[in-house]
Amino acid sequence: MSEQQSSVTPPAKPVSERIDTTRPHSARFWNYFVGGKDNYEVDREVGDQIKAFFPGLVDVAVAGRQFLRRSVSHLVEDHGVRQFLDIGTGLPTADNTHQVAQEIAPETRIVYVDNDPLVLTHARALLTSSPEGVTDYIDADLYDPDTILAEAAKTLDFDRPVALMLLGILGHADDFSKAREVVGRLMAGLPTGSYLVMYDGTRTSEGMIAAEKAYIESGAVPYYVREPDEIVTLFDGLRILDPGFVRLSEWRPDADSATVSAEVDAFGGIGVKE
Ligand SMILES: C[S@@+](CC[C@H](N)C(=O)[O-])C[C@H]1O[C@@H](n2cnc3c(N)ncnc32)[C@H](O)[C@@H]1O
Repeated sequence: MSEQQSSVTPPAKPVSERIDTTRPHSARFWNYFVGGKDNYEVDREVGDQIKAFFPGLVDVAVAGRQFLRRSVSHLVEDHGVRQFLDIGTGLPTADNTHQVAQEIAPETRIVYVDNDPLVLTHARALLTSSPEGVTDYIDADLYDPDTILAEAAKTLDFDRPVALMLLGILGHADDFSKAREVVGRLMAGLPTGSYLVMYDGTRTSEGMIAAEKAYIESGAVPYYVREPDEIVTLFDGLRILDPGFVRLSEWRPDADSATVSAEVDAFGGIGVKE
């Protein structure tokens, strides 16, 4: 890592005071489901409780990371994208956005954004850019798009296309119009030729609906799963690339995709601003 090329924006108040170990947090909960070690007892307890009646939620977490790898590779390889703004990054794991992108094009620049204090403490693991590229981390809230765009512009060139990634984060919006508004404001700040990469959990199975209820009742920051027909409206005004906004198992599947259920209850896709 080069200190000149990678940085962490300092937190507003000490991180230790911001970490809440008394209720599940989605970054840690998701980390548990993808086999990570950066989670607490409270995350594992609720994770095990939900897994017992709906193991399909683990498939959503795993398929989401697989979608990240396939979508980033596709944009870098086939569309020449060299800049990513990944909001709701989550805890570092295998195949983070910069690793996938820079393996193909080492000069790629990536800005990560999350508001979870534990993600901030692990941000150094995201700042292992190739010497030719850059990674940066912003400790900020999705619902402060002006700050995110202003900070990201210090690393990314807003005269060239940027891929905005919102993977497994928008379900945190209690009111879908808030998600729509923030996506609109972020895409409006990016140049023509930019992309929206998005997946989210959907409510196409009884198991997922029960998992949503159990997760919310656990005291975690709520996560709402929605109908694919509603989520796809986030792409309004964009052209959705093939194969469309589809179940993750159907989005340009590769050999790894077979490790999750074909019925995985999450949809994703990529839109381009033309
Ligand atoms: C379910 S995890 C998804 C992580 C990763 N994108 C993935 O798909 O594996 C949701 C992430 O969004 C972050 N998040 C939730 N609400 C946020 C907000 N308002 N602003 C920034 N990040 C947020 C959480 O801290 C967490 O890291």
